[in-house]
Amino acid sequence: MRRGLLSLREVVATGGPFRALRRPRWAMTLLRSAPGLRLRTAEPADIPLLARWRTDPRVLEFYAGRDRPLDEAGVRARYFCPHRDPTTGRFYEYRACVAETGSGPVGFVQYYRLPRADAGLFGCSPEERAYAVDLFLGEPARWGHGLGSRLLALVRDHLVERRDARRIFADPRVENLRSVRALEKAGFRKVQLLAARSVHEGDRADCWLMEYP
Ligand SMILES: CC(C)(COP(=O)(O)OP(=O)(O)OC[C@H]1O[C@@H](n2cnc3c(N)ncnc32)[C@H](O)[C@@H]1OP(=O)(O)O)[C@@H](O)C(=O)NCCC(=O)NCCS
Repeated sequence: MRRGLLSLREVVATGGPFRALRRPRWAMTLLRSAPGLRLRTAEPADIPLLARWRTDPRVLEFYAGRDRPLDEAGVRARYFCPHRDPTTGRFYEYRACVAETGSGPVGFVQYYRLPRADAGLFGCSPEERAYAVDLFLGEPARWGHGLGSRLLALVRDHLVERRDARRIFADPRVENLRSVRALEKAGFRKVQLLAARSVHEGDRADCWLMEYP
């Protein structure tokens, strides 16, 4: 880890040396709700649950791949640290969220302002307010009952109304028909085939670039 003085940008992004005196950076905030469904920011207390989901092979088969589980340390590093754009080195807006129904947490959503490399690939300028989203429901028994598309609609509306998003992207693997369909139900449309966009369980996978509106 780099030592020495923090830059102003890092002070803002990390909370700086006085963060203990302020509201905790990762304190939970309710982002949006609909009948029986809430979208809130993830908090450190969620780490064991997120790690359980992110090591479940049934979830990993569709999300990230069974060869890329995340334990608690991995979850902390991936979801609870500031994110830097590899192209510019700048921090960008990133938010890890938990979805809850009346019975408790049911899934994970992340959204982020598009980093420069993806903005180029997705055909928008870095200045546009473009975001990307992805998600999973942590319990396979919940799949296929309309929850995922409702959750996507919730995050979509949060981004449009509260983050002033002009464009929202997702890039599911072409093979993930349920995910593609859930996105379509939430108003996303296929705009481009991204050949060999991702590596899934060791194989190159084609993805759909999908966009709202
Ligand atoms: C993707 C996910 C969030 C979608 O949530 P969900 O609650 O299952 O989705 P919904 O029930 O809202 O919609 C699924 C749609 O796909 C359809 N579907 C399911 N399996 C399908 C298949 N094999 N082929 C075509 N359509 C299929 C369903 O019939 C439904 O459409 P319909 O309502 O028009 O009938 C959830 O399934 C999940 O977490 N999957 C595992 C992780 C994952 O794939 N994450 C996305 C990574 S990009």
